[in-house]
Amino acid sequence: MLGRILGGVFLLVLAAPAHAQTAVANVTIDTSKPGAEINRHIYGQFAEHLGRGIYEGIWVGEASPIPNIRGYRKDVVEALKKIQVPNVRWPGGCFGDLYDWRDGIGPRAKRPVRVNVHWGGVTEDNSFGTHEFMNFAELIGAEAYISLNVGSLTPYDNAQWLEYMTSDSQSSLANERRKNGRDKPWKVQFVGIGNETWGCGGNMRPEYAADINRRYATFANTPREMGSLKIASGSHDDNFDFAETMMRDGGRFDGLSVHYYTVPRIFRDKGPATGFPESEWASTLKHALHIDEIVTKTAAIMDKYDAGKKIGLYVDEWGTWYDQEPGSHPGFLYQQNTLRDAQVAALSLNIFQRHSDRVKGANIAQMINVLQAMILTDKEKMVLTPTYHVFDMYQAFMGAAPLPSTVTGPDYVQGDNRMPMADVFAGRGKDGKLVLAIVNTDPGHAVQVVTNLTGTAKGRILSAFAMDAHNTFTNPNMVRPIPFSSSSEGGKMSFDMPAKSVAVVIVD
Ligand code: AHR
Repeated sequence: MLGRILGGVFLLVLAAPAHAQTAVANVTIDTSKPGAEINRHIYGQFAEHLGRGIYEGIWVGEASPIPNIRGYRKDVVEALKKIQVPNVRWPGGCFGDLYDWRDGIGPRAKRPVRVNVHWGGVTEDNSFGTHEFMNFAELIGAEAYISLNVGSLTPYDNAQWLEYMTSDSQSSLANERRKNGRDKPWKVQFVGIGNETWGCGGNMRPEYAADINRRYATFANTPREMGSLKIASGSHDDNFDFAETMMRDGGRFDGLSVHYYTVPRIFRDKGPATGFPESEWASTLKHALHIDEIVTKTAAIMDKYDAGKKIGLYVDEWGTWYDQEPGSHPGFLYQQNTLRDAQVAALSLNIFQRHSDRVKGANIAQMINVLQAMILTDKEKMVLTPTYHVFDMYQAFMGAAPLPSTVTGPDYVQGDNRMPMADVFAGRGKDGKLVLAIVNTDPGHAVQVVTNLTGTAKGRILSAFAMDAHNTFTNPNMVRPIPFSSSSEGGKMSFDMPAKSVAVVIVD
């Protein structure tokens, strides 16, 4: 296999068979045992009032010289529509538990200005409120995931918010919505009962959080025919107390959340987003893979109380968290997004897909200009990140059924970090076609992935020469997927995966 650069793009020449020294991984896919359908909501997004995520990222206002659709950036809207974002979680995060929805309705000029105490202490003019968010979700074709404020508002306030958004009656709240420009009710698919009750959402004890969930969920209602799902705030990382207590004592809910962030080092010294050594490539991927254990253990707790798997697990915050970019506003969590993030995205989505019987939703943190973003903007410029490209490629798995697959092959080892070199996920798409995702985690060596399948496969692959290859406003196409297809080895379909690559192919 050869790689070459043309016009700044990494090109792979895959026609030649891998030479003798190339590592080989063998994959056996059992096409006879499809698992539970992969819920498309695992490809969800998170958009908090944080840094330049909402303002500049989504909302520039109608008067902006940046091309916009009723105030929403046109380039961003088009890019998000292309990846069929299934749902967007809003307004927080930590921001949500100090948010009063009444601040964000009515004439914009009259909305109060608050201080965003969680994120940089900047002023929040509330020009992006309920109408702006709900209309945005509709514009990009996504469901709304509203995270209620259980930290500092009453159940009554939250009930009123939901009535304002979703009632088709002639109530004062529904008519106030109409007066503010929206006749028909909006659909709220997901109702989050708070956020991180163990931390910024109220620093509660698990028992208190379970009681809070019982109480707030009781009054957090939408019209029955809307089919809204209530998501209880659960655990984080390797702390399972909140999951256990919520499942046991939290009353009635449809989903339980868990949050997990991937850092290369430790939280108070995370490491940079670019210019990192190979040890931090490896530690980042290793930490990302740890979410499998967290999901597995949380699912086991849920099984004890919900053997029928009626309650979904929602990983409604996940992604990489690095030191913010030098020179960026403190507290804005702006970070670059590299090929390493693409690998984290692919490995994480593979894990959620494997747990399709329990994981019914996930929201990457966050959509634009914050943490592991899909999109970065700078005034009128926009770039799609390597993570965006993975979400684009993984659309093939929306609604697919996982197929058990066994991989035997070499590990990628770097210092104390060891992981399989080839991570493979197989699924049967809704159209009956077999779809494969293959990740080569090794940044220095190619791997030939030999399957038990026959036929041909076509798709796309994402790779680059540098571990921290990324797209910039001056070079927006440094990392982007290119066509990729299978080669045949002894009649078996095989894939020549270059170092540090992610591929998704459809098998014919
Ligand atoms: O995504 C950034 C922050 O991380 C969120 O506001 C909070 O919920 C989490 O701790």
